Amino acid sequence: MNTGMLIAFEGIDGTGKSSQLKMLAGFLEENGHQVVTTFEPTNSSYGLRIRELYKNRSSCTPDEELALFLEDRRLHVRELIEPERAAGKIVLTDRYYYSTAAYQGTAAGEAGPDVEDIFALNSFAPQPELVILLTMEPELSIERIRQGRGEELNDFEQFEQLRQVAERFALFDDPCICRIDASRDMKQVQDAIRAVVEEKISRFPGKSNVE
Ligand code: TYD
Repeated sequence: MNTGMLIAFEGIDGTGKSSQLKMLAGFLEENGHQVVTTFEPTNSSYGLRIRELYKNRSSCTPDEELALFLEDRRLHVRELIEPERAAGKIVLTDRYYYSTAAYQGTAAGEAGPDVEDIFALNSFAPQPELVILLTMEPELSIERIRQGRGEELNDFEQFEQLRQVAERFALFDDPCICRIDASRDMKQVQDAIRAVVEEKISRFPGKSNVE
């Protein structure tokens, strides 16, 4: 039986997740795998509202913001992730529920949902077979966003927040998480990702949907 696989890319803004994901998708396809790439927030109506929020994050409460990410993910899981995975594909998602825990989670004592509650609220979402967590100092990721993309930082990307988000990502310890140092050049990072993914595929029971 062919069993698909879900691989999530996670990390703070500016770590190169999207580029690395695309390169991995190309590599896996060349090697005969059926691959679907996707991202969160999605382009659903919830995702579009989230993107509006980037411009002015204070326009809704932390709980409302969390609810939007959860509804967006609920649709994403139901309409894309689960069916594609069940069809034997390798689904690569740019962000998943670890982002919600890291970005919307608050430290103990602060107002707002805490990280453990956020994981519990995401229990509807299947655990990925593998999480590629790209790590980088926030100083460097911000530099890359400014210089590389020529972008102004949006509200989600302010330095102090990114620093806290990086700290939360650093605490996650699910066994499916594999940390990869993304401060190296892109090719080295991609080689490291491929090595981990190939190893995972080779050990995955029933996972051999090479055409
Ligand atoms: P990002 O992957 O940077 O998308 P884009 O390339 O379209 O800008 O994600 C956008 C922002 O959304 C990013 O700053 C992280 C944030 N985010 C959360 O805060 N919580 C979540 O659950 C997700 C999926 C993203």
